[in-house]
Amino acid sequence: MAHRTIETNITEEDVRLELEGSLRPKRLNDYIGQSKIKESLIISIEAAKKRRESLDHILFYGPPGLGKTTLAGIIANEMGVNIKITSGPAIEKPGDMAAILNNLDEGDVLFVDEIHRLNKQVEEVLYPAMEDYCIDIMIGKGQSARSVRLDLPKFTLIGATTRAGLLSAPLRDRFGLIHHLEFYSVPELATIILHSGKVLGVEIDREGAYEMARRSRGTPRLANRILKRVRDYAEVKYDGTVTSDIANEALDIMDVDKLGLDHIDRNLLITIIEKFDGGPVGLDTLAAAIGEDSGTIEDVYEPYLIKNGFINRTPKGRVVCELAYSHLGMPKSQA
Ligand SMILES: Nc1ncnc2c1ncn2[C@@H]1O[C@H](COP(=O)(O)OP(=O)(O)OP(=O)(O)O)[C@@H](O)[C@H]1O
Ligand SMILES: [Mg+2]
Repeated sequence: MAHRTIETNITEEDVRLELEGSLRPKRLNDYIGQSKIKESLIISIEAAKKRRESLDHILFYGPPGLGKTTLAGIIANEMGVNIKITSGPAIEKPGDMAAILNNLDEGDVLFVDEIHRLNKQVEEVLYPAMEDYCIDIMIGKGQSARSVRLDLPKFTLIGATTRAGLLSAPLRDRFGLIHHLEFYSVPELATIILHSGKVLGVEIDREGAYEMARRSRGTPRLANRILKRVRDYAEVKYDGTVTSDIANEALDIMDVDKLGLDHIDRNLLITIIEKFDGGPVGLDTLAAAIGEDSGTIEDVYEPYLIKNGFINRTPKGRVVCELAYSHLGMPKSQA
């Protein structure tokens, strides 16, 4: 993937930023936005606590950087249990998964990031584990081999994925709660930015926060990264206080435009307009034309463009909308 300021996947810069101040909210009350998910979680958590049971298994899906991992941590905190964090590609063998499960304590949260990337054999260990809190393991070899059922503590599996479509039906069906994370509104992002500013000790005025929020593509991870870059700019060029003018200037230099698009987004839109007459164009054809992986276009670039009305997904392929033409200042062909 090409380098971009508005990369929504986690980067090294974000990891450092996380360490600098604890930007990740730890309680549900400090988690901004996603109000439907929050309401549902409050009820589930209260109910589980009252019954002294473990929480239902939960699947979070949605574009990168919207707060899936953060929510998993918050849930463990609110339940007062430990969280063990792993990811789909990290677990190679069924035995590895069995060992992880066997080491959990009653009520613990097992967080599996990129859960769509678990291989089939590993996934199959999860089925009885999620449903009946047990695993079947083989003991001995050859003729004397036999399968032994091992009871597990009642744990909660929290899965996260950017691609719910790639999850197998048997796995998806075993989640009691499935939540789709939405892009954040500008006021929500401004609130996050003002809060992060406090944690990091950056002076930001309200207009400055809104300017950064408008250009953060609905994504908290990006909002925090933009804040950090703008802070650096404000410190080097000015007295450190982030105003709307300074945010504007810094973001223009970073190639993030007024609506949060960068050269990659613009290139994608311009390609559809110039090479495919505005579309419809199939995903794979488009991917080949801009030299990108079709999965990346679908999961990372496209959701924001679709959500904001730059492109439309139709049965025949992608079509650019009116807004793309006006935003890019390009005329619509009269063909
Ligand atoms: N609701 C929120 N309120 C405040 N900050 C948030 C919120 N959601 C996310 N953040 C911030 O955004 C960052 C990215 O969130 P997180 O790592 O949870 O995203 P993710 O959905 O797990 O992304 P990925 O798909 O890449 O794993 C967090 O470190 C946190 O600082
Ligand atoms: Mg994550």
